[in-house]
Amino acid sequence: MQLETRPVRIGIIGLGPRGETLLANLLAMTGEVEIVAVCDLQEARINKILGILAKAERTQPKAFSNYQEMLALPELEGVLIPTSWNSHLQIARDAMAQGKYAGIEVGGATSLDELWQLVHAAEATGVSCMMLENCCYGRNELMALNLARKGLFGELVHCSCGYEHDLAYMACEIENGFERALHNLHRNCDLYPTHGLGPIAKILRINRGNRFISLTSTASKARGFAAAAEKNNWQGCAGHKVFNMGDVVTTVIRCAQGETITMTHCVSLPRPYSRCCRVQGTKGIWLEDAGGIFIDGISPTCQQIDVAGNPYTVHKWNKVEEFYQQYDHPLWQEFRRNPIGGHGGMDILTLRAFLAAIRDHAEPPIDVYDCAAWMSITCLSEQSIALGGMPLPCPDFTNGKWFNRTPAPPSIWCLDEVYEK
Ligand SMILES: NC(=O)c1ccc[n+]([C@@H]2O[C@H](COP(=O)([O-])OP(=O)(O)OC[C@H]3O[C@@H](n4cnc5c(N)ncnc54)[C@H](O)[C@@H]3O)[C@@H](O)[C@H]2O)c1
Repeated sequence: MQLETRPVRIGIIGLGPRGETLLANLLAMTGEVEIVAVCDLQEARINKILGILAKAERTQPKAFSNYQEMLALPELEGVLIPTSWNSHLQIARDAMAQGKYAGIEVGGATSLDELWQLVHAAEATGVSCMMLENCCYGRNELMALNLARKGLFGELVHCSCGYEHDLAYMACEIENGFERALHNLHRNCDLYPTHGLGPIAKILRINRGNRFISLTSTASKARGFAAAAEKNNWQGCAGHKVFNMGDVVTTVIRCAQGETITMTHCVSLPRPYSRCCRVQGTKGIWLEDAGGIFIDGISPTCQQIDVAGNPYTVHKWNKVEEFYQQYDHPLWQEFRRNPIGGHGGMDILTLRAFLAAIRDHAEPPIDVYDCAAWMSITCLSEQSIALGGMPLPCPDFTNGKWFNRTPAPPSIWCLDEVYEK
């Protein structure tokens, strides 16, 4: 892929497993990025990362345990923030206050207040924060965006998405203070909304001509974590069998343009992974779990006769792969010639989008209003469940700008429109 490749000088705050994965991707991006600083509260994690960089024969970055000291480095242009969920937003605000672009890892919010503070920080400082929501750059998600903008689905009516991932093993991490486990122990909500909702929000033009209006959320009983702990005899959670997190949390969002979105969060029951995406309009549908697309007039339709001799119409799926040749997003048409990086390429594409925004001093394709709207689903769903499924209004973090905000600047990275390079 041909890119303008002035190396961008970045730092990484949070050197856990995700920090390591991001680093591995960055190391594969020759000439695009320079890692000038790293930071973690744990010395062992800093040393591990320094060791990886030494083995790769890269310049040793400056190392910090206090991220504020790191943010003061004048050479630093932006920071990646793969810390745990409770710390992302404060660090992002502090980074923007120092004039650094903030790339926050995915997660949900614990309060609307921290999201408003994030929005105000971006508006006040003129630098922005991008959520590193890699699923927005997934091949099928980008193809769905392309199909939607080309009008193949017709007028969009309903979408669904979710996070269905058997993570019951985290039940045993409570004694270690693993933050994610504590969220599952104490909270009851859609904890991890953005992998599914990010791409869907972009397809529905949320914050640019559309917005989330309200939601209602309901949780099932909570049995999965305790069942997994018992089955596996996980001693670590012996005293904590009562998880608050319902096994299946279902949220329904209404959008200003009349579309509905159904979201499912399920991390405690055995099942194959899915982000359960569905994009459906007056002319067609993409359904992730069917691995299929149906477009009226393109996909196979046949007439059959029932036992009484009456004809009926049967619509059949095309496999998603059958659409790649003609409808792959332009970014993927280029990327598939030289695919590198983790998570099927989407990590690299996300990092490149972030670096491009820093390099061009531009608004990132997933901006602060997107971060706030997507992350707000967590605390809103928590409140709705606590109130017995009560509908709640979704804040307009753009303060009315969503009516007529134009798409993010034309670039191949844009997730609002599809630009050819
Ligand atoms: N996009 C993806 O596909 C993907 C995949 C995995 C994880 N994630 C996300 O990445 C994030 C990190 O995940 P993880 O599994 O590495 O978490 P983790 O908790 O294991 O690691 C986080 C690291 O951040 C450090 N940290 C926390 N607060 C800090 C602070 N104030 N200053 C400096 N360091 C601090 C911790 O010491 C720890 O080493 C989470 O938000 C997670 O949801 C995203």
